[in-house]
Amino acid sequence: MLRVEKVTKKFGGVVAVRDVNFRVKPMEIFALVGPNGAGKTTLFNIITGALPPTEGHIYFKDEEITNLSPIKIVDLGIARTFQNIRLFNSMSVLENVLIGFEKSYNYTFFEAVFRLPRFFKEEKIHIEKAMEILKFLGLEKDANVNAKALSYGNQRKVEIARALATEPDLLLLDEPAAGMNPKETEELADTIFKLREEKEKTILFIEHDMKFVQKIADRVMVLDYGKTIFEGKPALMMQDETVVKAYLGDIDVEG
Ligand SMILES: Nc1ncnc2c1ncn2[C@@H]1O[C@H](COP(=O)(O)OP(=O)(O)OP(=O)(O)O)[C@@H](O)[C@H]1O
Ligand SMILES: [Mg+2]
Repeated sequence: MLRVEKVTKKFGGVVAVRDVNFRVKPMEIFALVGPNGAGKTTLFNIITGALPPTEGHIYFKDEEITNLSPIKIVDLGIARTFQNIRLFNSMSVLENVLIGFEKSYNYTFFEAVFRLPRFFKEEKIHIEKAMEILKFLGLEKDANVNAKALSYGNQRKVEIARALATEPDLLLLDEPAAGMNPKETEELADTIFKLREEKEKTILFIEHDMKFVQKIADRVMVLDYGKTIFEGKPALMMQDETVVKAYLGDIDVEG
C-alpha cells in the first residue's frame, strides 16, 4: 500500500530523517514511535506532500507520489490528522467535517454564490455522508455544536472525521491519543479497529503511549535521531536493547 524508500530529509545542518525504509501493507495498523524530535512528523509531512524529501522515494499503491502536491496525494487516497489539532473553532463540528469534502465539490463558484439547484443537491449528499461519519465515530449528537466546545479527545475525533470525508484508503494519525483520558484512549483503540474491520482502512500512526501501541499495532518502527533503530512486532520492541536504551528510558511506559 505504502512504500518509503531511502528517505532522507535535511533542514540545513539537521538531518531530521536519515535513510528510512519501510512498507505498510493493505489494512495493516502500523505504528511510528520514537523520542521527541526523532523525525516522525517530518516523515508524515513528506508522505503527504507537505515537504519534499532531500533524498528518496515514496510509492502509494505502486505509483510514485514523491513531490506530488498535497491535493493530488489526498485525491489518490491518503489523509492525515495533525499533532496540533487544526479545527476551525468558530465552526460547528459538522461544518469542520464538510471541509473534508471540498476536494470533491464539483459545482462552480458561481453556482455556490447564487445557490443554484446543483449546489443544494451536492450539499445535501455531503451532509448525509458527514453525518454518517460522525455517527461512526459516536459524535452525531455534537454535529451542531461549536468545535471548540468539545473535549480534547472529541476534537481529535473530529480531525479523524474530516480526514475520513476525503475517503482515504490510508489514514495517517499524528499522536491521536495525545491528551486523551484512559476511557477516550480505549474508545480510540476500538475506533481504529473498526476503521480497519468495517471500512477497510490502512492506518499509519505516530504515538508516544506504549500501551496503546502494544494494544493496536501489528508492526512498529522506532526512529531515533531520524534513523530506524527497530522494526517488528510491538512485543519484541520492548525487549530490544537498543530501543530500551535510546528511548524507553525517557518516556512514560505506563502511558
Ligand atoms: N520545518 C522545519 N524546519 C526546520 N527544522 C525542522 C522542521 N520540521 C522539523 N524540524 C526539525 O526536525 C527534527 C524532527 O522533528 P519532527 O517534528 O519530525 O519530530 P517528531 O519525531 O515528530 O517529534 P515529536 O515527538 O516531538 O512530535 C527536529 O530536530 C525538528 O526541530
Ligand atoms: Mg511530531
